[in-house]
Amino acid sequence: MLEISNHDLSGEEAYWLVHMQQALALAENVTSASPNPRVGCVLADGSEVVGTGWHLGTGEPHAERMALLNAGDRAKNSTVFVSLEPCCHVGRTGSCVEALREAGVARVIIPVIDPNPLVAGKGVQGLVDAGIDVIRLIDFESQARAINLGFFKRYESKRPYVRLKLAMSMDGRTALANGESKWISGTESRKDVQSIRRLSDAVVTGVGTVLSDNPQLNVRDSAGVKPVGQPLRVVLDTQLRTPVDSRIFDAAGPLLFLFSGEGDAVVDRAEALRARTANVERVKVCDAEGRADIASVLKLLLEDYGCNEVLIEAGATLAGGFISEGLVDELIIYLAPKLLGSDGRPLLDFGEITSMDLAPRFAIASATQFGEDLRIVFKR
Ligand SMILES: NC(=O)c1ccc[n+]([C@@H]2O[C@H](COP(=O)([O-])OP(=O)(O)OC[C@H]3O[C@@H](n4cnc5c(N)ncnc54)[C@H](OP(=O)(O)O)[C@@H]3O)[C@@H](O)[C@H]2O)c1
Repeated sequence: MLEISNHDLSGEEAYWLVHMQQALALAENVTSASPNPRVGCVLADGSEVVGTGWHLGTGEPHAERMALLNAGDRAKNSTVFVSLEPCCHVGRTGSCVEALREAGVARVIIPVIDPNPLVAGKGVQGLVDAGIDVIRLIDFESQARAINLGFFKRYESKRPYVRLKLAMSMDGRTALANGESKWISGTESRKDVQSIRRLSDAVVTGVGTVLSDNPQLNVRDSAGVKPVGQPLRVVLDTQLRTPVDSRIFDAAGPLLFLFSGEGDAVVDRAEALRARTANVERVKVCDAEGRADIASVLKLLLEDYGCNEVLIEAGATLAGGFISEGLVDELIIYLAPKLLGSDGRPLLDFGEITSMDLAPRFAIASATQFGEDLRIVFKR
């Protein structure tokens, strides 16, 4: 496999940049394919695109197969631009390496190697063994990884990619002392939250938020864009205190309650919640306070529910737990130009930090204005 930088491309090869960019854009358009990656594919004959495809999730054809089908006879001798190394294993759908070999493509261009150990370089080797040239455009690697942060995290850290979203006032408060938090942020910010939910495989909250805000936590039709799928909504509810008439049951989308409390009353409440079509599971691992152990919750979501990307939308208690455990990859703050005063609820509730060296640190990744608010994205 040749590894080439964009600066080394000249003449006809300059089209490669355009085709690779299109393959990445097709991948980016997929809301979620979890537990699989978002993948886009473009087949080209010189400057001309002869086929396109993308992958919509488990059981659906892979992007390469869709593009081959779309190109028909024109796939022969074409150059294939795919946003991730093609797979070489036979899962629910056949191996893409085999499909590309059968179609007689001339060359495959990728930005990044698949982290899944079943593929991880074996796809490239399979193509080379079939006499197909393989080129990796190294300058597209970070863009390709950014489209599949959760998929890479799954294989590189055995965890989902975790975003924590909070709306706060200028003085760092997330609710009034009486619990009211509707609305700290404005309509534009709340629309933006819908787009983050749409990318998420699960939205996790705590029972404190359910009791005070009565949220739905699903993806709703916003800005004229119809939601494609709904994320799994997860409520960490130690004693199953969620009322059965909560709005969360009325909204579209799957629902999971995780509890750890004991006793007949909890068993009865579990039955009542199940009757409202929710999955209700007892967690296997608890923290020192007998609540769900959050690292284990993430493991459960990754392994049993196929979640690559998880969004936390909770109050200071659960949000603070995720931060103090070092489990947040991305912190998204909507800063509203309001002051709620020192009696308001804090942003995060976690134990005392005794030295500046021990303070959890993030770097600012972006700052964007939404209406009157500022969205600041911090990454670890
Ligand atoms: N501004 C914002 O972005 C925003 C977002 C959401 C909520 N809020 C506001 O936040 C307030 C609610 O805050 P909150 O802190 O009570 O709610 P929370 O963090 O959503 O829920 C906390 C509860 O979750 C349960 N839980 C289960 N496992 C847990 C674990 N491992 N760690 C921590 N908690 C776990 C606990 O219930 P048990 O006590 O039964 O064990 C705990 O009391 C409301 O006023 C709401 O309006 C603001």
